[in-house]
Amino acid sequence: MAITKAVLIVGGSGFVGTHLAIHLRERYKVFATYNENPVRIPGVTLLPVNLGNRNHLKRVVYTIRPEAVIYAAGSNDVDWAEANPREAESLHTSGAASVSNVAEIFQPKFIYLSNCYPFDGTRGNYHEGDTVLPVTALGKAKVGGENYIRGKALSYVIIRSSPLLARGNGIHLSFLDRLRMKLAARERIEVAESELHSFAAIDGLLEMIDRVLDSGLRNKTLHYGGRTKLSLYELSRLFAGRFGYDPELILAKKHTSGTTSNYELPRLDYSLNSTQTYEMLKIEPLLLEQSFDLIEKKLVARA
Ligand SMILES: NC(=O)c1ccc[n+]([C@@H]2O[C@H](COP(=O)([O-])OP(=O)(O)OC[C@H]3O[C@@H](n4cnc5c(N)ncnc54)[C@H](OP(=O)(O)O)[C@@H]3O)[C@@H](O)[C@H]2O)c1
Repeated sequence: MAITKAVLIVGGSGFVGTHLAIHLRERYKVFATYNENPVRIPGVTLLPVNLGNRNHLKRVVYTIRPEAVIYAAGSNDVDWAEANPREAESLHTSGAASVSNVAEIFQPKFIYLSNCYPFDGTRGNYHEGDTVLPVTALGKAKVGGENYIRGKALSYVIIRSSPLLARGNGIHLSFLDRLRMKLAARERIEVAESELHSFAAIDGLLEMIDRVLDSGLRNKTLHYGGRTKLSLYELSRLFAGRFGYDPELILAKKHTSGTTSNYELPRLDYSLNSTQTYEMLKIEPLLLEQSFDLIEKKLVARA
């Protein structure tokens, strides 16, 4: 069957964007944008895009005439956003607004990829309807992007995803890639234990996006995360044990006040409750063990 529908992935050269492009290319004409890294993804058209240049953006979008736009540009790095709040705002809020504005004439389904940082982390197990109260620059930039899309896009789905488990694309390494390299070299690594997250395999997010694209679902905010909540430190030790590395190489990085008394700060809980997503889209949540199995399969396939 001829593939006629086009999907535009903004940030298609990134960790998440590359997984999306590879997954969707079987069913769609996939166009993926990059900023600095022109990765090569067979079967996918890579395009340089400057989000600040409206005319250029317009030419790209008018040429593609996308049925769906997935906004996956940005960074999930809280420290980077804290150090670069202006760039974070521009990427997560203004960039999404520009793409949505120029694409609106084609009325695409606009999928905006958000994360857990719109919440303040004091409670955890956040549902879609819970009040957002961002405390980080990344969280504020995400809320800005979410609000713009909710207010202006005619057909949108906002997906707030927990940190994703998968391999990177060789340029944008995932946390697990970096961890694996350290463990394989038998180097010690300090990993934060200050935040709890409902980490989840990227495969579940890809399945969720399939359902969103295939359904008439619109103007919704959905959460994606796993059933277990863990700190990055706990996740790393489990990963090491599962893949035959020495968990003792992983050390807990304490989160302290940085003041003279330097007391330990309370652990924050950014876990997302995804029950509504699983029920509404009829997908099965993946257990952590299953996520590791999926990563192992890909390691074997590429070995
Ligand atoms: N990683 C996760 O676990 C996770 C979880 C939840 C939500 N998300 C969200 O998913 C999005 C992508 O995350 P990621 O982990 O895939 O990040 P990533 O690997 O760092 O990829 C970032 C993407 O954004 C592009 N980009 C960066 N600066 C840009 C700019 N100024 N103009 C245009 N494009 C720019 C990059 O292009 P170049 O490579 O060409 O520079 C790349 O395609 C982020 O918004 C993040 O918050 C990620």
